[in-house]
Amino acid sequence: MAKRRLENILVTGGAGFIGSNFIHFIFNKTKFHGRIINVDKLTYAGNLENLVEIERELGGERYFFEKVDIVDFDNLKKIFKKYAIDTVVNFAAESHVDRSIFGPKEFVQTNIMGIFNLLELARESWEEEKEKGDVLFHHISTDEVYGSIEEGKYFYEDTPYRPNSPYSASKASSDHLVRAYYKTYGLPVTISNCSNNYGSHQFPEKLISLMILNILEEKTLPVYGDGKNIRDWLYVEDHCQAIWEILNKGKTGEIYNIGGENEWENIELVNCLCEKIAKVKGKEKDYYKKLITFVKDRPGHDRRYAINCDKIKEELGWRRQFDFEEGLDSTIKWYMNNQDWVDRVRSGEYKKWIEKNYNFR
Ligand code: NAD
Ligand code: TYD
Repeated sequence: MAKRRLENILVTGGAGFIGSNFIHFIFNKTKFHGRIINVDKLTYAGNLENLVEIERELGGERYFFEKVDIVDFDNLKKIFKKYAIDTVVNFAAESHVDRSIFGPKEFVQTNIMGIFNLLELARESWEEEKEKGDVLFHHISTDEVYGSIEEGKYFYEDTPYRPNSPYSASKASSDHLVRAYYKTYGLPVTISNCSNNYGSHQFPEKLISLMILNILEEKTLPVYGDGKNIRDWLYVEDHCQAIWEILNKGKTGEIYNIGGENEWENIELVNCLCEKIAKVKGKEKDYYKKLITFVKDRPGHDRRYAINCDKIKEELGWRRQFDFEEGLDSTIKWYMNNQDWVDRVRSGEYKKWIEKNYNFR
């Protein structure tokens, strides 16, 4: 396999949670020498504040931000030309299951039409390049495309797709398109399907970030259904490392599952967060648990996700570096030390979302 060029990387959705962590990671923790072009529509989940240090240190030289919607083909086309893009790392997506239940349309537009646009542009731009074998379209996907899995079984790269939410169905659709562009047009692609991420800069609508903030503010901790749904949690930096391995060494046309090998029932995880924060705050161990409230379940709620990630471990030598204790402690610390960030992301739109999602439960 030819060495990948990795000179002008188009990162879509780079102002979001994983995308911004990835940009920090690639500039600060790897030997990357090229340029990053961050294309983001800046939805409620996109926040340029996540990248101020990068903009200050590298802006206009090795880091460029372009506010573009990936659904807007013409403007996206200008970006491909202007920066001679040789690598795409596609994070841009509507990413929250609960929001997809209230409003699936945005999910279909961004997660399907947006990815279709990116694929078309890569195909068009790389007609000659692809023969050299050094360009790559990497698509970030989720384990949720495989649906729910019973105890004792795991998702493998060839597990059939059975998405249950509008979010996972839209991600599954984009994965199929990416595969089809490889099979039909020979576009050099890789896909990774990752389990639930946690870490700094996560918009406080997902389980861990929402619970940390609610505990700190002594607000209700809304646990859906019986709280026994299981998720496999991975620290965001471990995910970024895995993506970097794939960009450098991943085999074209392949799918890689990425997981934390770290399954937790939601209720156990919320109890654990309560205890950890009680310790930091000098409260008695069970002090915050009184805030736990079981609320109406999410429709179509997947019971369990569990990834088998032997392939990326064996083929690319990737290993998770952070254990859950360490990752959770640093995440809690980050939210405690970044109250200004929290205050600013809690815009009017955020307040509307909290009312919409939790008032009916
Ligand atoms: P996020 O919601 O925090 O960020 C998404 C980013 O995409 C935001 O910056 C947003 O402004 C941008 N965006 C949305 N629509 C856009 C559009 N039409 N054009 C350009 N930009 C747009 O999401 P995240 O948690 O960082 O997830 C990133 C990717 O990783 C997604 O593709 C998601 O499906 C996948 N993923 C996430 C997790 C997880 O646990 N968070 C797990 C596995 C896979
Ligand atoms: P979430 O972080 O939304 O990720 P996903 O649904 O994509 O896995 O939710 C993780 C789990 O936590 C899921 O089983 C739903 C549950 N959950 C709650 O119980 N309460 C909440 O307020 C949220 C946001 C999630």
